[in-house]
Amino acid sequence: MNESRIVIAQITDSHIRAPGRLAYCKVDTAHHLAQTVALLAAPPVPVDAVIVTGDLTDFAADEEYAHFRKLVSPLSVPIYPVPGNHDERAALRRAFADLIDLPAEGPQCHVADVGRVRVAMVDSTVPGAPHGEMTATTLAWLDRVLAEAPERPTLVALHHPPFLTGVRHMDVQNCRGADALEELLRRHPNVCGLTCGHVHRTVITTFAGQAAMIAPSPAHAVSFDLAADAPPSFSMEPPAVLLHVWGAGSDAMTTHWLPVGRSDGPYPFFDDAGRLID
Ligand SMILES: [Fe+2]
Repeated sequence: MNESRIVIAQITDSHIRAPGRLAYCKVDTAHHLAQTVALLAAPPVPVDAVIVTGDLTDFAADEEYAHFRKLVSPLSVPIYPVPGNHDERAALRRAFADLIDLPAEGPQCHVADVGRVRVAMVDSTVPGAPHGEMTATTLAWLDRVLAEAPERPTLVALHHPPFLTGVRHMDVQNCRGADALEELLRRHPNVCGLTCGHVHRTVITTFAGQAAMIAPSPAHAVSFDLAADAPPSFSMEPPAVLLHVWGAGSDAMTTHWLPVGRSDGPYPFFDDAGRLID
């Protein structure tokens, strides 16, 4: 690991099914995750760790988690998941028991230490419900984690965004208890950002005075429609991941959006004599 530069990739909402099954009879989510892993596993992307912010699987079946693990197996860096509303806590814990010591019961919150950077992996799920919630237990855990290493920049990662996006059918199932979370984060200057999943779209805003974002899915996007009565639907938009970088020139977190799949290039700007190509 290059300690002066830390790169954490964020995959979210992969919605993996059992081998051979498509999500919603349409989306080959395994293919999209495999492409994403191939991007992250190969140079020139210098990834130090991968966080997965929920909805790893579609129906939380053991064979779906086994399929997820197989698909991410080319990654040689640590992988840190938190559940989303499509996951199930015990099934997720079983699937990662050989890699992470997750809590035996209750919210599956844990800390990912990546060099000098921390990621507080916050379980925002409410078992059996699509929306998320910050409970007193979860908030107390996060308060403790942020207080115990005040010198370390800490990214807060959770599935449900604690802010609104304008996509109404998703906003009604976002993270409840946002006011208490905001008050908590404002008390800890080591917080350097907040990142989520759930909405399957790249969304950027501020929360508690920090950069706050939603990462895109590597597979299907929730359709962009801000109409109040927009029906829930998905669209196949270009898949992508986020790379959260510390030490990219300053000590602040810098987040890059990276498309998955073949891109044309790279092509030079300048000719052999150093002139801008005309
Ligand atoms: Fe999802």
